[in-house]
Amino acid sequence: MAATSLTAPPSFSGLRRISPKLDAAAVSSHQSFFHRVNSSTRLVSSSSSSHRSPRGVVAMAGSGKNGTKDSIAKLISDLNSATLEADVDVVVSPPFVYIDQVKSSLTDRIDISGQNSWVGKGGAFTGEISVEQLKDLGCKWVILGHSERRHVIGEKDEFIGKKAAYALSEGLGVIACIGEKLEEREAGKTFDVCFAQLKAFADAVPSWDNIVVAYEPVWAIGTGKVASPQQAQEVHVAVRGWLKKNVSEEVASKTRIIYGGSVNGGNSAELAKEEDIDGFLVGGASLKGPEFATIVNSVTSKKVAA
Ligand code: PGA
Repeated sequence: MAATSLTAPPSFSGLRRISPKLDAAAVSSHQSFFHRVNSSTRLVSSSSSSHRSPRGVVAMAGSGKNGTKDSIAKLISDLNSATLEADVDVVVSPPFVYIDQVKSSLTDRIDISGQNSWVGKGGAFTGEISVEQLKDLGCKWVILGHSERRHVIGEKDEFIGKKAAYALSEGLGVIACIGEKLEEREAGKTFDVCFAQLKAFADAVPSWDNIVVAYEPVWAIGTGKVASPQQAQEVHVAVRGWLKKNVSEEVASKTRIIYGGSVNGGNSAELAKEEDIDGFLVGGASLKGPEFATIVNSVTSKKVAA
């Protein structure tokens, strides 16, 4: 099957990267202030819809290689004073080294996520962060399968599926990222790629109760080239259809599917109006507290539209 709606490549005029290429050089030279390996705070959120959880989910991915304790303190202060719609789950995902700082000063209204975790029980895996450690710091979630983990670090579908299974078994919620590269979309392989990534999660996990699927087209991440509401909705519908066919009707109807890739305060409301977009995974735009609050609150625009 093929997604058909992408006609133009990213224009690269946006928030962070000026090229969609995910080679290491491109990442290191073009990543934005708030992104990539060092990104300081990554937020995830999702919203309500008629047949799914009454709560949306919005996650925040934040301050990047120039993030500091001071810049994170400012962001936390903005988030603590923001007015957030009640029926949206809000999650921030700081770089590991700042989790403790965030946990000790962020309102309990907002949950905390790791940006990655080790595939099994913690042990002698130098440089890795275990699920047990994330829990010890107060994390409730972990983001797995982010495109940078897949395409920069080289993690494979099966390995990511195993990570999800382990994190779930230890009680963390999983934000399970999927998404196609530009050349895959242009070759008509969007659905094939997304379904293969979904299958790896499905093959590994015993339950979808604590999974939020994040559809993040790689060409939209950090590029300023957001998917149109129709492009995103098309894939979200396909993902839900895949879950219905391959997992169960109940899982398909209950699982929240959020969109990520150049979401900002100006485009989130239109995206959120789409029936199958249940929230967002936000990178660059999450680094400004007020804009992130706008995105969180836009998740309820479906209700207004309904
Ligand atoms: P972006 O990042 O919102 O800056 O495109 C999304 C992500 O990194 O997941």
